[in-house]
Amino acid sequence: MPKYDPAHFDAALSAFQRAYPTFDSTRRLDDLRASDYARLDAQRHVYLDYTGGGLYATSQLDQHMALLRDHVFGNPHSSNPTSTAMTMLVERARRYVLEFFNASPDEYVAIFTSNASGALKLVGESFCFEPGDPYVLTFDNHNSVNGIREYARTRGAEVTYVPLVLPEMRVDEAHLDACLDRARPGGHNLFAFPAQSNFSGVQHPLEWIARAQAKGWDVLLDAAAFVPTNRLDLSQWHPDFVPLSFYKMFGYPTGVGCLLARRQALAKLCRPWFAGGTITVASVQGDKYYLAESEAAFEDGTLNYLNLPAVEIGLKHIQAIGLDAIHERVRCLVGWLLDNLLALKHHNGKPLVRLYGPPGTERRGGTLTVNFYDATGRAADHRFIEQQANLANISLRTGCFCNPGAGEIALGLSKLELAACFQQPAEHLTLDDFRLCIDGKSSGAVRISIGLVTNFADAYRFMQFAESLVDQVVVHMTVR
Ligand SMILES: Cc1ncc(COP(=O)(O)O)c(C=O)c1O
Repeated sequence: MPKYDPAHFDAALSAFQRAYPTFDSTRRLDDLRASDYARLDAQRHVYLDYTGGGLYATSQLDQHMALLRDHVFGNPHSSNPTSTAMTMLVERARRYVLEFFNASPDEYVAIFTSNASGALKLVGESFCFEPGDPYVLTFDNHNSVNGIREYARTRGAEVTYVPLVLPEMRVDEAHLDACLDRARPGGHNLFAFPAQSNFSGVQHPLEWIARAQAKGWDVLLDAAAFVPTNRLDLSQWHPDFVPLSFYKMFGYPTGVGCLLARRQALAKLCRPWFAGGTITVASVQGDKYYLAESEAAFEDGTLNYLNLPAVEIGLKHIQAIGLDAIHERVRCLVGWLLDNLLALKHHNGKPLVRLYGPPGTERRGGTLTVNFYDATGRAADHRFIEQQANLANISLRTGCFCNPGAGEIALGLSKLELAACFQQPAEHLTLDDFRLCIDGKSSGAVRISIGLVTNFADAYRFMQFAESLVDQVVVHMTVR
């Protein structure tokens, strides 16, 4: 990395401020970073993995610890004083989650889960697929949405993927409409897509929700990568199921997510089992059980109850900052990163990076995925880039980020090639076996994601790092 030059930094900052004048309106986030996230700068971390996990403020911890220190809380499944105190806080957190997303309690319920994947599993295992029912989903999806296809297939449903179109990695709307036109009349039709891609940062149109519902689909909107830096207003948009993880929004606590579900869609689900907490009555000798009403029927066993007040604290923290400020800040920083990263060239004019996704700030979030190339046009191994970033104390992410569909489109892996790899008789396929099979093609990329307290200095340090790779010898994709 080049040595830090304050004059160069100041010039870059001025150019950034001229290009993105609205950034100035988000200054309070710089103050907040200094007061509430001081550990980041004290340890000189450049954290660029917000899509992996958000960061928490010290004030969130202080408030939560004070609450735990000053009260006695029992398992909310009882009705003694300590249990009642806990129940009140759990229900308060639940109400606040709905309020945060502007979801009417008449229309939506908030079901606490262990994470977004837990919320998705609830939908997958309970959706009443029957033979011939369709499950339509975009190539661009997290594996926890892809995984629902296994429930669908087990019940004889048909799975259809809607492809992405390069270079922006968006969906061809005509293709999507053709798929949505194939809802089974009177059937259980499920359509799933992410509000924001965890691979490319693309924000898929929320207008698809009503369009699909009008054609007879229940819509699962994966909001895990969207809600940390975008407002999701459930009085404007009415998806049937919305999974999310709270640590992605405000870092702490981990282990708590939620499924926001429309009451009418929830009522149609078929829970495959019952558990402690999900029934009103279950009998051993009577061999019968009666499910509880609404969210209670979906919260298996004891909730992560001590952490639920921290969800309210975290949401209030975001609310106090203002999602619009967070959104605008991320838009400015990702715009500057895109402008500068895409301008980097080797001595012979060849570009340093290839971007997978939109090159501008329109309908995209703060997730940016690239591969690095040398001056001869050969791709650098993403694991090499990660090692180099680690040396500079930059935390980024490499691989395919649990989004194989987007990865396959971005990296040009064809169905034929993949089928050949997966035809091998082996029970297990390691990542190295897979790399060997795709014969030197890249099996991943480098993801930079920004969020709540990213500042210009983080973006600048990343650009310094990227520049240090111009005209350098890099480690290429190697096959064992
Ligand atoms: C878009 C998206 N959906 C779902 C998930 C799954 O979240 P979790 O691992 O918290 O269950 C992630 C995690 O990165 C994600 O980015």
